[in-house]
Amino acid sequence: MSAPVAPRIAYVNGRYLPLAEATLPIMDRGFLFGDGIYEVTAVLGDHFVDNEPHLARLDRSLRAIGIRNPHTIPEWTAIQRELVRQNDLKQGTVYIEVTRGTYEREFTCPDDIAPNVVMFTQAKNLLANPMAETGAAVITVDDLRWARRDIKSVALLAQVLAKFEAKHAGVAEAVMLEDGVVTEGASSTFFILSSVGVLVTRALSNSVLPGVTRSSVMRLARETGLPVEERPFTRQEMLAAREVFYTSASSFVMPVVAVDGEKISGGRPGPITKKLRAIYLEEAQKG
Ligand code: PDD
Repeated sequence: MSAPVAPRIAYVNGRYLPLAEATLPIMDRGFLFGDGIYEVTAVLGDHFVDNEPHLARLDRSLRAIGIRNPHTIPEWTAIQRELVRQNDLKQGTVYIEVTRGTYEREFTCPDDIAPNVVMFTQAKNLLANPMAETGAAVITVDDLRWARRDIKSVALLAQVLAKFEAKHAGVAEAVMLEDGVVTEGASSTFFILSSVGVLVTRALSNSVLPGVTRSSVMRLARETGLPVEERPFTRQEMLAAREVFYTSASSFVMPVVAVDGEKISGGRPGPITKKLRAIYLEEAQKG
């Protein structure tokens, strides 16, 4: 007889519950309006990767849409740790969602209703990810999103559609274009190593999410002496790039080997990308 499988535990408004019992009322504004924000932090053993900047961005997103942050950073961290402990998570992600709260379905509600907080973990093999060895193929799609992409909003319909397009094309990620210029990946930040060996990613603005992994990777690149430029780049420049990769909390640094069916760096992960992934993982595991 096999040992009983422990139920997955989620956190809902102060309670740790088996996933099936972890529910919110249907009048939750996140469900009805996408009126909420989220964060995703990677877990490697005892360490939460780049957790401080993730929790800082959570606070920033909440402020941007006028939701009170229900917890201090030590409180958030304590809940994350307890959830990881209860789920015996060794490698994966912790997801946090905060919605404006529960109210009658009206577009507005009193300013002071209690936010809803939901958290859960997802076990994932982040370190030994086979795609990091082979590299990822991606497609370009139109960026259909709103004007405040710097907020980590749960209103992700445009990204969900982009991801379905990628899935149906048999590729891993969609890179979004606005007037021929790359904004970012459907759930990642895009970088190119230009034809003259400069690492390029788009500058921060309302047009893109301020990626936490982006910022760490830029710092590590500069520390290795690689020139880094923050500026827009076009699809054409991406196709002509020496290397392309994307970053996110769950993919770390992911080499791109094909864009719209055209090979990048001979169809193999480029050496600079591999080096950046290695030094990022080294730092992430050290804590
Ligand atoms: N996505 N851009 C977008 C639109 C994203 O959704 C994400 C992250 C990123 C990368 O940000 P970071 O490095 O802070 O994870 C950029 C998360 C992982 C997700 O939605 O699952």
